[in-house]
Amino acid sequence: MNYNKKTVTDVDVSGKKVLLRCDFNVPQDKTTRAITDDKRIRAALPTIQYLLDQNAAVIACSHLGKPKGEVKPELTLAPVAKRLSELLGREVIFASDTIGPDAQAKAQALKPGQILLLENLRFDIGEEKNKPEFAKALADLAQVYVSDAFGTVHRAHASTAGVAAYLPAVSGFLIQKELEIMGGALNNPKRPFVAVLGGAKVSDKIGVINNLLEKADAIIIGGGMAYTFKKAQGLEIGTSLCEEDKLDYAREMIAKAEEKGVKFLLPTDNLCAREFSNDAEPVLTEGDIPEGLMGMDIGPKSREIFCDAVKGAGTVVWNGPMGVFEFPAFAEGTRAMAKALAESGAITIVGGGDSAAAVEQLGFAGEITHISTGGGASLEFLEGLELPGVACLLDK
Ligand code: 3PG
Repeated sequence: MNYNKKTVTDVDVSGKKVLLRCDFNVPQDKTTRAITDDKRIRAALPTIQYLLDQNAAVIACSHLGKPKGEVKPELTLAPVAKRLSELLGREVIFASDTIGPDAQAKAQALKPGQILLLENLRFDIGEEKNKPEFAKALADLAQVYVSDAFGTVHRAHASTAGVAAYLPAVSGFLIQKELEIMGGALNNPKRPFVAVLGGAKVSDKIGVINNLLEKADAIIIGGGMAYTFKKAQGLEIGTSLCEEDKLDYAREMIAKAEEKGVKFLLPTDNLCAREFSNDAEPVLTEGDIPEGLMGMDIGPKSREIFCDAVKGAGTVVWNGPMGVFEFPAFAEGTRAMAKALAESGAITIVGGGDSAAAVEQLGFAGEITHISTGGGASLEFLEGLELPGVACLLDK
């Protein structure tokens, strides 16, 4: 897939109306609806600021949550408009609909140097269904389309892909940065290239492992998914997570790694517990995990082996925690990995979602080269899949 896409600096936006797709799908407090992490809003600021400085009239849009075509007042983007206004230090006009009369009137009246935010795109079923009428109506609000919603590029929705059929379509600085750094790591990595994969399920990472086996020098597997691999090797895993229907796949991947000369590291020791709780007494096991115990984190020997592999790397991509890091008693594996990435001289890239949360929560975010703003999007990127929200942009 071609990542060399035109950006906002390759088109003339001065005095024009620009439809800017952002990913303002931010976490909110369930009761107060207060935004609990504004990282995604901050990540959109460079492009917004550039457009305003170029005297464009910016019509920003995004989805929030999964209202599935219904107007759900709790999923309004109004709190995002407020936060964006605070961060920009200027007024953000808010439209109470997406392509309706309010949006149309406000978009039409919008002056260069002003910014308007439309209501949650997913309040209209046309967004997720990528209905041409909806995409066309969005496009009719503007003269140029800029996409900066990296977190949503794996979705073929009206505002992420459909709209590009009607307007010149370019990327913003965030998508440009994500493509440059992650694309560079995958296509031309500084070696050794080490991939660290964790999280609960093998099934979530099948495509990623398969693709990375073609590119990486070493793959480290931790987290819940490691136990399916251990069982596939004939070890006992007690009551640890296991996807029985993925055992053959796990064997295949181990064999493929051997055939390709890719180092494939699995935990040799584990911190286990009798129940899934932070208060459970940690039990250290080596090799087989006895009956009644479940793996909750990698053990100290595995930590050392895994972290040594990371320290000697030229490029490290990490997606998925090493254990149940939400429980402090079982967070050490993930913490050690985050620290190893932070201290290595390698180009370090952390995929969005849980691993990004872990790196931030554990205080190492500042020392990581790049933390992706995409969860599902960064996974599909690592799988080597075509991303509709990137494919639709103009090639350089
Ligand atoms: C995300 O949070 O990963 C993106 O905003 C995409 O959201 P979605 O999974 O609801 O499409």
